[in-house]
Amino acid sequence: MYFPKCRLRRLRRNENLRRLVRETKLSIDDLVMPLFVREGQEDKKPISSMPGNYQLSVDNLVKEVEKVRETGIPAILLFGIPTAKDEEASQAYAEDGIVQRAVRALKEKVPDIIVITDVCLCEYMSHGHCGIIKERLSPKAEIDNDTTRQLLAKAALSHVRAGADVVAPSAMMDGQVSAIRGILDENGYQDIPIMAYSAKYVSCFYGPFREAAESPPAFGDRRSYQMDVANSREALREVALDIEEGADIVMVKPALGYLDIIYRIKENFEHPVAAYSVSGEFAMVKAAAEKGWLEEKKVVLEILTGLKRAGADIIITYWAMDVARWLKEDSKSLS
Ligand code: PBG
Repeated sequence: MYFPKCRLRRLRRNENLRRLVRETKLSIDDLVMPLFVREGQEDKKPISSMPGNYQLSVDNLVKEVEKVRETGIPAILLFGIPTAKDEEASQAYAEDGIVQRAVRALKEKVPDIIVITDVCLCEYMSHGHCGIIKERLSPKAEIDNDTTRQLLAKAALSHVRAGADVVAPSAMMDGQVSAIRGILDENGYQDIPIMAYSAKYVSCFYGPFREAAESPPAFGDRRSYQMDVANSREALREVALDIEEGADIVMVKPALGYLDIIYRIKENFEHPVAAYSVSGEFAMVKAAAEKGWLEEKKVVLEILTGLKRAGADIIITYWAMDVARWLKEDSKSLS
């Protein structure tokens, strides 16, 4: 019987050989840590479905971001939880809104960390949808795309005026990237990049986040604007349009169930690709680890390496701080 001379096992026999031929390496440089900011002082409200994550008051956010900087993680992604919600999401673009104030504080105290702000309206809407409601055909929500994209542009501009380094529109409105690029350029912010949530699916994996950001839709769901989970060619169209409109980084969200999408985007475009490992992906591993069914560190490193292998350049994850620590531990144990 034919037996090939090439034995792949030869290169797997010890850790140094494996290191030499390893194709994908997760690095601290790839990570973005999502954080939540709320009103109040010296406040730190645990998010029960996302153990270890908190809604932080501005002073505590600054302290947390100082810790992020110490780990060497280059960027955070910031979400705001306002006290007042209405049907125009006015706190989303208020100059003294929670995100705007938080960004100003961060730029004063921890200026070198990249602050990416999530640009959406859902947290600021009394009904929890990502845009202005045109018609409340309960249980369906019909969104006014074009008014919404103008409000998103206003929100993005207010974040950048406060000092945001990158804006990340996540409302899935058509033309939101061009509206934001336009308003930023008109106001002299040509150098501020846009990280577009280009392929954002209508996923159940956002469940815990909606508790974290207090933004569940009061009626209907987000099917009329987020992507159908069954589609992949459509993701390529979303990305192509966002790039045409001026996106600098494109994102796939969620990550774990969408590795094929990450891969196809990486194969088809030259832009950096971000993968958002969302709240539900975090919660399910945490729950299994708590029960002793999975080993958290190993599972997380395996999942995130998988995202990178699929083509993600940037990984947004609630484990960012842990991963930074684990990677340092592992590199120490080698030397
Ligand atoms: C919308 C937004 C959501 C997430 C990030 N930005 C929620 C949604 O679309 O319902 C989800 C993030 C996560 O689940 O970790 N502003």
